[in-house]
Amino acid sequence: MKRMSFAKSDVFIPFSPPCMGNEEEEEVLDSLRSGWITTGPKVKEFEKRVAEYVNAKHAVAMFSCTDAMLLALMVLGIQKGDEIITTPFTFASTGHVICHHGAKPVFVDVDPETFNIDPRKIEEAITPKTRGIIPVHYAGHSCDMDPILDIVQKHKLFVMEDAAHAIGTEYNGRKIGNFGDITCFSFYATKNLATAEGGMAVTNNEEWAKRMRILTMYGISDAREIWQNRYTQAGPIHHDIVELGYKCNMTDLCAGIGIQQLAKLDVFNEMRGGFAKTYDDAFKGHHGFKIPVIKDYTKTTRHLYPLLLNLEYFDIDRDLFINELKENNIGTSVLFKPLHFHSYYANKFSFKIGDFPVAERVFDQIICLPISPKLAKGEIEKVIETLLFVANSFKR
Ligand SMILES: Cc1ncc(COP(=O)(O)O)c(C=O)c1O
Repeated sequence: MKRMSFAKSDVFIPFSPPCMGNEEEEEVLDSLRSGWITTGPKVKEFEKRVAEYVNAKHAVAMFSCTDAMLLALMVLGIQKGDEIITTPFTFASTGHVICHHGAKPVFVDVDPETFNIDPRKIEEAITPKTRGIIPVHYAGHSCDMDPILDIVQKHKLFVMEDAAHAIGTEYNGRKIGNFGDITCFSFYATKNLATAEGGMAVTNNEEWAKRMRILTMYGISDAREIWQNRYTQAGPIHHDIVELGYKCNMTDLCAGIGIQQLAKLDVFNEMRGGFAKTYDDAFKGHHGFKIPVIKDYTKTTRHLYPLLLNLEYFDIDRDLFINELKENNIGTSVLFKPLHFHSYYANKFSFKIGDFPVAERVFDQIICLPISPKLAKGEIEKVIETLLFVANSFKR
């Protein structure tokens, strides 16, 4: 083994810390002082600004992207026994929202370069029970939407996009948020735009937006006006529950943070792009690594930096590689363990190893490196130095 001189980082470098400033702090204080701590004027304003940003007509803020997708499928008319096509290379939410409605997730393997659903494999998964497709814009790199939309049109399906990673992502020069029937974003703590917890569904369909808004507040017909009654002279005295809703509204505390994060989003995404380029330059051509492929059709938000290990090059596997990084104060994440590898999905749908070979191969090799505007350039350089040190120490 060739020894390199190396000093590990003095402090732990986290995988994806949120980047909050004085502006966000002021918004929270403003909400606390005004008394509008739950859904109120800031939620309305945040919805308006996100809709404008992604160029969609309507936006409905919620507690999470998971809630947004759950309600989106409900208004799209998903029924027990329906089949919904998506990818196994995603987070729990994408599969769960299908299962919660009693429908069946039908997985299609991913493209080996983008790790997004492979449009060439979608049609063979369509059956008479197929109702829709959920493309997941993994890592902020858009799916190849044109062939997906062609298939959808041909088979009369719906498209509900899981854009949890993709606020600001573009496909052929247009922002994600205006391609499918409904698009759902996540504003969870690690996301490019973070509101602590939060999500939003955007659509051009007024009826769906109206219904989702009602469903976020128990199914009460005019719930968003009832808060006015509580705090002002306006608003009705009585309300009517028109259907069985949930309770997953966004609070003004979160929306205020979101308004400030949205104002910084393009700069934040640029900074992520700069860090990604630094990683690309460091690992390009190294025989132990494969850097992410970015297709011409997308402008990516670089939500993640997924680096693949060439396992033949090393005498340790991915998990041991991650342990070495952890020992050296570098935080990483494995996104994602494919859904069909999780026992709930494997047991319920009888999935087995080998069903989705591309996603499985990527899973064996992937390490998502720290990336966030909160990190300093020196920290990114330390990550690189540490990876090169570990690579050199465990070269086969
Ligand atoms: C691809 C994907 N979809 C959905 C979600 C769910 O987002 P939320 O935590 O806002 O419900 C996540 C969360 O990380 C995700 O990565």
